[in-house]
Amino acid sequence: MHLPDLNIAKDRTSKENKYIELNENYKKVFNGQKYFLRTYGCQMNVHDSEAIRSYLETLGYVNTEVIEEANLVVLNTCAIRENARDKVVGFLGKCKYLKKNRDDFKIVLAGCMCEQPDFIESVQKNHKYVDLVIGTHNIHELPKLLLELNQKQTIEVYSNSDEVIEGMNFKRDSKVTAWVNIMYGCDKFCTYCIVPYTRGRERSRKLDSILEEVRHLKMNGYKEVTLLGQNVNAYGRDIGESFANLLEQVALTGMERIRFVTSHPWNFTDEMIDIIAKYDNIMPYIHLPLQSGSNEILKKMNRRYTKEEYLELFNKMKERIPNVAITTDIIVGFPNETEEDFLDTLEVVEKCEYDGAYTFIFSPREGTPAAKMKDEVSMEEKEERLQRLNEVVNKYSNKNNQKLLNKVVDVLILGESEKDNTKVYGYTDTMKLVNVIGGKELIGNIVKVKITDAKSFSLDGEYVEEKVAI
Ligand code: 5AD
Ligand code: SF4
Repeated sequence: MHLPDLNIAKDRTSKENKYIELNENYKKVFNGQKYFLRTYGCQMNVHDSEAIRSYLETLGYVNTEVIEEANLVVLNTCAIRENARDKVVGFLGKCKYLKKNRDDFKIVLAGCMCEQPDFIESVQKNHKYVDLVIGTHNIHELPKLLLELNQKQTIEVYSNSDEVIEGMNFKRDSKVTAWVNIMYGCDKFCTYCIVPYTRGRERSRKLDSILEEVRHLKMNGYKEVTLLGQNVNAYGRDIGESFANLLEQVALTGMERIRFVTSHPWNFTDEMIDIIAKYDNIMPYIHLPLQSGSNEILKKMNRRYTKEEYLELFNKMKERIPNVAITTDIIVGFPNETEEDFLDTLEVVEKCEYDGAYTFIFSPREGTPAAKMKDEVSMEEKEERLQRLNEVVNKYSNKNNQKLLNKVVDVLILGESEKDNTKVYGYTDTMKLVNVIGGKELIGNIVKVKITDAKSFSLDGEYVEEKVAI
């Protein structure tokens, strides 16, 4: 048994690249059994679930969307805010009920919550029916651990994050657009954030491995890759590489569309901006978390930039990258945020006129410095601020979307619309969701679409031209 420890999670001693290969003897041992997988949280978790799927299907499991039919339930959990945890705990109750009187029903917990010692304690005490808990650093051990399962609860969570995993297999959700991990972990230690503890310290994948993965995806017909990291501009610092060079090398593979998330405003170099501006296949879209517009709060958050520095960077991006769209993340109600602090945030939002923003109420995470800060602001007040912020945010996302009305834009079509079978959906280069009147044959192509309606969160359009030759 290995239990998580936040003190170990904080530190890193060495680093090694570990190449994963699946033991041939494991293939198809669970033939015919069914798995149900639910994913909570960010893109990193979504992509980890693609690895989990790949392992399970290699073992012979087949996917089911009906949990009652499943022999194995895997919950890939998120710890970023308390409500993400609440959802998982709620769903666990349902799993417990289904497991009653069934020996062939196994429950596995994976993901960020498993790296939190207080959660693991509660699993040991209150959720004894959970069969296996694995952490974020050892997903590749899932096949072995499943094979070794017995009547006792198994907890295999490592807090150290020395390894850089290479050679993972993924069963990707899409045949058009793919996530590509470029690095793991985060070293920024923003005081509110649990990620450096659940995902460990920053460590980069090798440039060559990343390029090989992108070329392989291109050969297999993928049109878009999104380079994934908690803080992509820190890519390569531990291995003598740089994100600007990586971006350029990926652009030179000829992959049709290249995106990246998430960028930290600190250390976003001019070189990176120039590379984004230079290559047509690097999409003009940047997610640039602000978190707060108050210098006081930014300092308490340990964000390493001031409002003025953020605005300078923002304006530089807008000037140098033609047609760039910028979105952001904002937290309201950080401990003792004053009305004045909050007004500073609104002021930055007014200045930046973001294309979109994810907005959150501060949620204390056990083990982080901000969770220990005294806080006099009531939840009522925080909720009111969130509402006021959302009004401003929505005003500008709507305004930006209206600018596209009656314009013809390139849209990469990803799939059929779930709500309306006469429509497909896709994204503009600036990452705006468009519902398009058109058939399935458009999926996987970048097509010209005339925008006929613009709302705050999506656009409607009609397909106006033959497929763009590729
Ligand atoms: N409370 C509220 N929001 C948070 N985020 C991260 N940690 C917390 C927290 N403790 C938000 C940040 C981050 C996004 C992914 O989630 O805005 O950018
Ligand atoms: Fe969390 Fe800050 Fe790292 Fe983002 S940069 S993952 S908010 S610690």
